[in-house]
Amino acid sequence: MTKQKVLVTGGAGYIGSHACVELLEAGFEVVVVDNLSNSKPESLARVQKITGKTLSFYQTDIRDHAALTDIFAKEAPDTVIHFAGLKAVGESCEQPLLYYHNNVYGTLVLVEVMTAANVKQLVFSSSATVYGESSSPQYSEHFPLGAINPYGRSKAMIEDILRDLSAADHKNQVQNPWKIALLRYFNPIGAHSSGLIGEDPNGIPNNLMPYIAQVAIGKLSQLSVFGDDYPTPDGTGIRDYIHVVDLVKGHLKAITALNGDKFKDGACNAYNLGAGRGYSVLEMVHAFERVTGKTINYKISPRRAGDLAECFANPELAWQELDWKVEKNLDDMVADTWHWQTLNPMGYV
Ligand code: NAD
Ligand code: WQD
Repeated sequence: MTKQKVLVTGGAGYIGSHACVELLEAGFEVVVVDNLSNSKPESLARVQKITGKTLSFYQTDIRDHAALTDIFAKEAPDTVIHFAGLKAVGESCEQPLLYYHNNVYGTLVLVEVMTAANVKQLVFSSSATVYGESSSPQYSEHFPLGAINPYGRSKAMIEDILRDLSAADHKNQVQNPWKIALLRYFNPIGAHSSGLIGEDPNGIPNNLMPYIAQVAIGKLSQLSVFGDDYPTPDGTGIRDYIHVVDLVKGHLKAITALNGDKFKDGACNAYNLGAGRGYSVLEMVHAFERVTGKTINYKISPRRAGDLAECFANPELAWQELDWKVEKNLDDMVADTWHWQTLNPMGYV
């Protein structure tokens, strides 16, 4: 079988660049479409340096219907991994239309172009943030959805659109039905072991791990721990952190599944990508101190609005249906974050 060609939207970004490395190393041809609104072309240069292989890059907005149509005509990909999107929860509350336009409308254009090109295999970057309130901190795919901010709702809306697309094909018994994996990520952290690619947030990081790394390297003076009065063993919030390389390997497994029996009549299935266990904020701080030998200056601050006490994945469906499990541990995640941070103290500049 000739190797497949994968079109990666948002491939210059944090998770997308790691996916490009794994795809190239597995022998796929890779085409990246990214408008560089939250990334730099240097990430793709580094991907090629790590792998010794080349990819095709189009600096294009996925909302540009005509340009995207041309790319599909020229490249004829077999599968799409769709990472392109805006992802800052706070910003999405300030500018909801920007988020709905970029994320929801962008996906609509993408699937219209894919339909016209008869490319109907899609792996979508969803998020644990689509889940609603639950009595259990361990989330399974069948739990009720109920995102609480515009970013999360944009992901939930896209999931609905993709499920509807798949259902319509099923109803109409079309010959080449949509095959879609909705991958619900928990908390991706870490970096490629080369230290050449990693997370390069704009301005002050919103997320815990890049914040800790910037305190450790002296770019930020102090971490605020958002709340120590949660009903958890040490009072701080618990999350399911997952190494970005484990995460992107889940995407390759999803492509294999889309090509297999489970999806042969078309389907749109959601899978949690998480480790299935959580660490508290203070456990993350202490792990960082232990692995790097640095002291992390922190203070206890009030809770952050919208935060849950505890959230981690039930990853059993991905184990069973994608044959995927995390392989890396907390020390790997911390060591690789630190390696990237120390080699690139200013990110990609
Ligand atoms: P990122 O910002 O590093 O990467 C997203 C990429 O998409 C960027 O390179 C950006 O330039 C590009 N992009 C954005 N809008 C675009 C558009 N309209 N057209 C073309 N390119 C566009 O983010 P990431 O952390 O790599 O996240 C990738 C995906 O995973 C996103 O969809 C995000 O919502 C989702 N996700 C991320 C996390 C996380 O914690 N990082 C968790 C769950 C889900
Ligand atoms: C983790 C823990 C904080 C920063 C977010 C998005 C979610 C998803 C992943 C895309 C929490 C605490 C954090 C800090 C802290 N993204 N914290 N001080 O909130 O689980 O998820 O990123 O889909 O949609 O909401 O991740 O890294 O922001 O926080 O104490 O400076 O660290 O309260 O307990 P979160 P996070």
